[in-house]
Amino acid sequence: MAKLKATKFAKLKIIKSHYTMEKKFKRTTVTSALPYANGPVHIGHLAGVYVPADIYVRYLRLKKEDVLFIGGSDEHGVPITIRAKKEGITPQDVVDRYHSLIKKSFEEFGISFDVYSRTTSPTHHQLASDFFKTLYDKGEFIEKTSEQYYDEEAKTFLADRYITGECPHCHSEGAYGDQCEKCGTSLSPTDLINPKSAISGSKPVMKETKHWYLPLDKHEGWLRKWILEDHKEWRPNVYGQCKSWLDMGLQPRAVSRDLDWGIPVPVEGAEGKVLYVWFDAPIGYISNTKELLPDSWETWWKDPETRLIHFIGKDNIVFHCIVFPAMLKAEGSYILPENVP
Ligand code: 2FM
Ligand code: ZN
Repeated sequence: MAKLKATKFAKLKIIKSHYTMEKKFKRTTVTSALPYANGPVHIGHLAGVYVPADIYVRYLRLKKEDVLFIGGSDEHGVPITIRAKKEGITPQDVVDRYHSLIKKSFEEFGISFDVYSRTTSPTHHQLASDFFKTLYDKGEFIEKTSEQYYDEEAKTFLADRYITGECPHCHSEGAYGDQCEKCGTSLSPTDLINPKSAISGSKPVMKETKHWYLPLDKHEGWLRKWILEDHKEWRPNVYGQCKSWLDMGLQPRAVSRDLDWGIPVPVEGAEGKVLYVWFDAPIGYISNTKELLPDSWETWWKDPETRLIHFIGKDNIVFHCIVFPAMLKAEGSYILPENVP
């Protein structure tokens, strides 16, 4: 408990000192990580992300500053499809159930969002799709073909979690294509001994598939300067993780997946492919702002006099400090975050 309090105050202190010593802004856009609509929110999320964000927003409101507090549910990704299959319902049923539950929890807890929407909304589908198309048209992606496991019976490519087999380390059965839950080793699907499709039980085959990648290596130069030189005030663990990523050298990252749940990749020849959940989710912050303020949302995302702050969990650092800023920069008309507490 004492540790929790200390963390909260440390976060506020960093934001406050940054706020008092530097650039003057006209308004502040505050986002808090969009929870997956795949289970309830728990106390750790509240204490680590939503309560600190709420305190900061209430503080700005008390000072009569212009502030928007954006929340919402993250409703795409493979785990939602797995839960749906297990329960014999659709992914839409899963996200409908948990979106309502999570929204209600936040209301009852008094988290004072200005908007709480969801990434299955039509506004979000349109905006995320347009965002991809803009990057595609500007030549900001590279296309790569690679071999991935395919289930010939179910006629579908298999996400890592949909492949099970014997763990090459501890030899227990039922390890997943991304991790063995028995010994904790992280795996790739090709590491598994006797891989099986979790959908049909059949033996998967390797098949070629094309995907779009954001060449993060191309963005490394400005990211290094922007984070390591211009944002030394970021929290030590955020700064440290960014530094270690940058020092290892950035690699192109796939922004599409072979899956039937998500936002279709809006280009020809992309049938059966959707945007990777971590590509569309942060765009959800922008879509939810647009849903709230259809005529003035751009001021909150594009005006250099707007201060953008992302409150996030510790597993989300790389996406908010490296991948999403690279997407925003590649698009060209957006501001970048001032801090990522
Ligand atoms: O880790 C998570 O719970 C993610 N759903 C957070 C997404 S944050 C943002 F990008 F939407
Ligand atoms: Zn194992």
